[in-house]
Amino acid sequence: MIKSKKARISLIGAGPGSSDLITRRGFRLLQSADVILYDALISKELLSEIDERIPKIYVGKRCNAHSYTQDSINSLLVEKAFECGHVVRLKGGDPFVFGRASEEIEYAENFGIPVTVVPGVTSAIAVPQSQGIPVTKRGVSSSFWVMTATKKDNSFSEDLKLAAQSSSTMVILMGVRKFNAIIKTVATYKGNNTPFALIQNGTLVNETCVLGILGEGLEAFKKVDITQPGIIVIGNVVSEHPAFFEEELQRVLHDYI
Ligand SMILES: C[S@@+](CC[C@H](N)C(=O)[O-])C[C@H]1O[C@@H](n2cnc3c(N)ncnc32)[C@H](O)[C@@H]1O
Repeated sequence: MIKSKKARISLIGAGPGSSDLITRRGFRLLQSADVILYDALISKELLSEIDERIPKIYVGKRCNAHSYTQDSINSLLVEKAFECGHVVRLKGGDPFVFGRASEEIEYAENFGIPVTVVPGVTSAIAVPQSQGIPVTKRGVSSSFWVMTATKKDNSFSEDLKLAAQSSSTMVILMGVRKFNAIIKTVATYKGNNTPFALIQNGTLVNETCVLGILGEGLEAFKKVDITQPGIIVIGNVVSEHPAFFEEELQRVLHDYI
């Protein structure tokens, strides 16, 4: 008699983008998956390193293009665990940073399915780092605040205003489409000369970064592809970017000419 595989789920953080930024533990568990459910920002290269006979199901949610609701992801996780055995739920960055991991864990555990969580390198730190921007620096910023611009009901986050009144570095996820409102609000507290960076496709070969100061942010934003997710970093640490002063100088010279 063939004994069916025991249902279990591993929630694994795949890291910020580049396929080699997953942890060793995460990659080892990924290789033992019977089925993989993965998100929008998961590297195709990473998935291609896994046996092609293992089913890989895309369950990403992107702005206005929801292929799966959170409820249907929860159900699918449980269904696949009972059907196939070990389900790997592969998430971008770290599963516990805006990853809705708690909802998936709670749902699966209600069915008696054990869930393991493997941390990942969060984009909130790794993506600024990829551009040479430290989220803290002695004498410049002694804390950082990771936030989203909007809440569940799509209203503007109060935390954004609170962070703007602090000396913390602001790291804003899921904020590209609200960029104009974000910089306008933050500038009222931090001032127009505060540096910002908007980074997209972080840690990937097509990584891009727009640098500037809040007061001139709208002009810089014209270069941004708003269909791509990105991270907005606001604070004096941004001037650590190797090109920050060069870009500012170019702008000043251009205005002068
Ligand atoms: C739903 S949140 C998930 C964050 C994830 N759990 C983490 O720890 O990185 C998705 C947001 O993370 C940011 N993000 C994730 N990966 C990114 C990357 N490679 N480049 C730029 N932004 C990224 C974007 O703001 C995106 O909208």
